Parts: sequence; structure tokens; C-alpha cells
Amino acid sequence: MNRTFTFALAVLMLLAMPFSLMAQKNGELWLDTEGTHINAHGGNIIKYGDKFYWYGENRPYRGFTTEVGVSVYSSTDLRTWTNEGVALAVSDIKGHDIERGCIMERPKVLYNAKTKKFVMLFHLELKGRGYEAARVAFAESDTPVGPFRYIRSTRVNAGKWPFDMNKAQRKAAQKTDAAAWKDWWTPEWRAETEKGMYLWRDFNGGQMSRDMTVYIDDDGKAYHITSSQENLTLLVSELTDDYLDFTGKYNMVAPGGQNEAPTILKHDGTYWLICSGCTGWAPNRARMFSSRSIWGPWKQHESPFTGANATYRNFPADKTFGGQGTYILDLQSLGKESLSASQYLFMADIWNPEHLSQSLHIWLPIQFTADGTPRIEWRETIGKK
Ligand code: DGJ
Repeated sequence: MNRTFTFALAVLMLLAMPFSLMAQKNGELWLDTEGTHINAHGGNIIKYGDKFYWYGENRPYRGFTTEVGVSVYSSTDLRTWTNEGVALAVSDIKGHDIERGCIMERPKVLYNAKTKKFVMLFHLELKGRGYEAARVAFAESDTPVGPFRYIRSTRVNAGKWPFDMNKAQRKAAQKTDAAAWKDWWTPEWRAETEKGMYLWRDFNGGQMSRDMTVYIDDDGKAYHITSSQENLTLLVSELTDDYLDFTGKYNMVAPGGQNEAPTILKHDGTYWLICSGCTGWAPNRARMFSSRSIWGPWKQHESPFTGANATYRNFPADKTFGGQGTYILDLQSLGKESLSASQYLFMADIWNPEHLSQSLHIWLPIQFTADGTPRIEWRETIGKK
């Protein structure tokens, strides 16, 4: 074979390769089998049968509202993704909760082994009301690709106290008055907030729910973890057996800590929560908490991120390499140990607020230090090192 022929053959082979196999580098666009950047942000991945399904926000090129709905992609190897269309579509009915122009964020799908249904929970903001509705919404489907049927949206745990709040603490919360505080961040405001000022303000109508994730424990029980109380406090709430409602049992994590974008894993009996701070679309330093029980007590640790993003705009570890977490993929539970040197992949979005659809995906392996603490370094690819 002469050189020109070999070169031409190599070029042809490269062109014939599915786009997605060439892509999937952290810091670059990730292309689906049609060569289009994967428009599934803030989402999660489940396995059903021999396929993986990736759900996420279908974002417009311009603007911040939801014009399409929740996307779903499928894959057999977690690398090559086929666009399966819209799992849950916006509605064209005026005044509908998910009317086109609402905001649907951070969709997470759970497969319920008992009911054999796929259940989607997501953060919903009603059309034209900014981020004030702060609701969680439910949808359900018989198949992984949908179409999901929209069920309802709600604030969470209306009329319920966190299960571990004692009588004296409940009394103290009832003496607070959020309407009286014009100036935030003063020591007095903080003290009132810690007493449960926003918990009490929203007690009857239900607690706010914005950035959220879900977690199914080893016993099949599922939990909803959300940024509540004006994004100041995380709530962990137990879901009913069909995953379509809350049981009413919940508690608070890091009251007043301003944590968003919760992600969770359980390793050797310890739950690790990795969150972000609250700076809109801009990256910030991640926060991490651990507990031996989903109900706490949670201990705060340093951010697990270390080093710098060497390939994409040099974002350092204290900016989460430019990303904001969305989900932790437990590869072992998906039967896919061989994809990475690590059992867990931290999935994050590098938001592009000018063109949200073009926001980048980064997946990074979570390693454990000798003392068993998670640690995340920048990697260009998710493959074994
Ligand atoms: C940060 C959140 O994590 C995102 O999901 C989104 O709600 C943006 N804030 C909006 O500014």
C-alpha cells in the first residue's frame, strides 16, 4: 500500500466512525449518533434491560425557559448516544403547569421495580413567575423513552415538621417572622434563619424545592434531596413506595449553608453528598458532607475537587473545574465497572448561559483517598488511566 492510499484510508475510517466515539472528551461538545451536541442537562442516567437512558433538560440555544421538555438518549456502552426524542413534552395548554415557557430543571428518572413504572421528578417553575414557584413535579411512563404522563407539581412536606425537630425547636421556629427581615445576612437574620424562619414561613403551603436529585437506597426506598428555604437549606425527604409522593418524613441538611445541585453516593455504608454553592450559572467551590445514615447527622468536609482543569479554560478545583454537579453514576450498580478506573462518575454541566443548549458535559471518576474520602481530579476522558 502506498502512503497516499494509507492516508486516504485512515481519513475515510475516521469519517465513518460514529461522531460520538470521537467526542466525549471533557471540555468539548459531546455529539450524539447524528452529530448533534447532547441536549440533556441537569439530568441523570438509569439502566433498563441492556440499555442506558440519559434524561436531561432540553435547553434552547437562546433564552432560559423550557420550550421543548425533557430529552432522553439511549446507549449500550455509555459512550455512543442515540437521541430518543422528548421523554416529557411541554404542554400547549394555556395555564398548564408545564406550559411551553415554564422552566423544567434537573429531571431525574427512577425505575420502580414494584410498580414497573418509570417515574420522573423535576424542578418546576411556572411560566412567567421566575423562580418563585419552587415546586417539584412528577411524571410517569410505562417505557423508559416515554412519553411520560405529567401528574402534578407541589411544594414539599406541607404542614409537616422535620422528624427530628423537638418541641422546643418547633416553638422557637413558630416565633420567627420572615416578613420582618428586609436585610439578609446580618447575624440576627442568620440566628432567626437557623431557628427555622423560612421553614415556618412555608410550613402550611409547603417547603420550596429547586435544585434536586433522587436516590434509591439498597432497600428500594427512594429519597428526594432538594435545595429549599430560599436555597439556604437542603431537605432530604422520603418518597412513598410508588415514588409518586412524599411520606412526610424529612429532615434538613446544613441549615443556612446555601447548597445547590445536590448529588449523592453511598460507599461502604457512608453516604456522601456533593453539592455546589449558589452563584447562578457561574461555577463555584463544591461542598461535601458525609453521614452513616440518610437522616444524618451530616458532617461537612473540604471540597473533593483537587488540581486544575488542564484542557478547558483552566478552571481550578475551587471552581469545580467550571462545572456544577448533576448526578453521581454508580457504575457497579449499572453493571459497567469497566468503563472507568473508578466505581463512580461525577456528572456535571459546564453551563453556557449565552447558549444553554451548548452547555458542556463533564464526567469525572470519583476516587477514594486512603482514609476513605472522595477525591475528584480533572481528566480529559472518563476512560481508565
Ligand atoms: C443554578 C442551578 O443549579 C441551575 O439548575 C439553575 O437553576 C441556575 N442556578 C439558574 O440560575
